[in-house]
Amino acid sequence: MEFAIRPYHPTDLYSLYTICLRTADSGRDATALYRDPELMGHLFAAPYAVAEPDLCFILTADGTPSGYVLGTRDTETFTRWCAAAWFPALRARYPLPAPDDVSPDARAIRDIHRGEPGHPEIIVDYPAHLHIDILPVGQGQGLGRRMMETFLDRLRALGVPGVHLGVGKRNPGAIQFYERMGFQPVIDADTWIGFGMRLAA
Ligand SMILES: CC(C)(COP(=O)(O)OP(=O)(O)OC[C@H]1O[C@@H](n2cnc3c(N)ncnc32)[C@H](O)[C@@H]1OP(=O)(O)O)[C@@H](O)C(=O)NCCC(=O)NCCS
Repeated sequence: MEFAIRPYHPTDLYSLYTICLRTADSGRDATALYRDPELMGHLFAAPYAVAEPDLCFILTADGTPSGYVLGTRDTETFTRWCAAAWFPALRARYPLPAPDDVSPDARAIRDIHRGEPGHPEIIVDYPAHLHIDILPVGQGQGLGRRMMETFLDRLRALGVPGVHLGVGKRNPGAIQFYERMGFQPVIDADTWIGFGMRLAA
């Protein structure tokens, strides 16, 4: 199988939704968890590619999109963009669920209504943030490291001083990946860890 990492193209958008859903259960396939297959992509993949396509890179396996790394160079600006240009249409499409609805769909829809939470304590030192997801076909072969380096090089070229990300504690493999990539823990919440990395120009 031949792997390649290339810039995002708008025709990749559907693949971003698919890959996001297929890695959304703490790194595993979440297809069976969600009635609506688009919710994870609406929150964690598509808005980044639409807002900052130059910060999105695609992993292909024999030409087929099989992974991505994407994010924002400035979380505050991105949060404002989502509030103005991304979430309003989704809020109209997905009304708030009943308070006793604790399904994964209902929780995701509440996140859409809440908007990006943002973490003011970390965005000062680490203004960028990212998401990386690779389908099983591409995992464990050094491709995640290559994709991360591609993304971090782009941030450095843009003069971004630092980057953060969040990872669920139910995903120990990803935690070890970020540690191996040189990220430092900056937030220890109940269910997730925030990692940060300062970027030398
Ligand atoms: C997490 C993920 C991005 C890692 O990418 P990858 O291509 O599998 O990782 P690589 O093969 O490039 O490994 C890079 C380093 O991380 C380590 N690593 C990667 N996955 C690991 C795991 N599951 N357990 C322990 N270490 C791991 C490797 O040992 C390697 O270390 P080294 O280069 O110092 O020897 C990828 O497995 C993935 O997308 N998983 C599913 C989705 C997911 O969990 N995304 C993160 C959500 S927060």
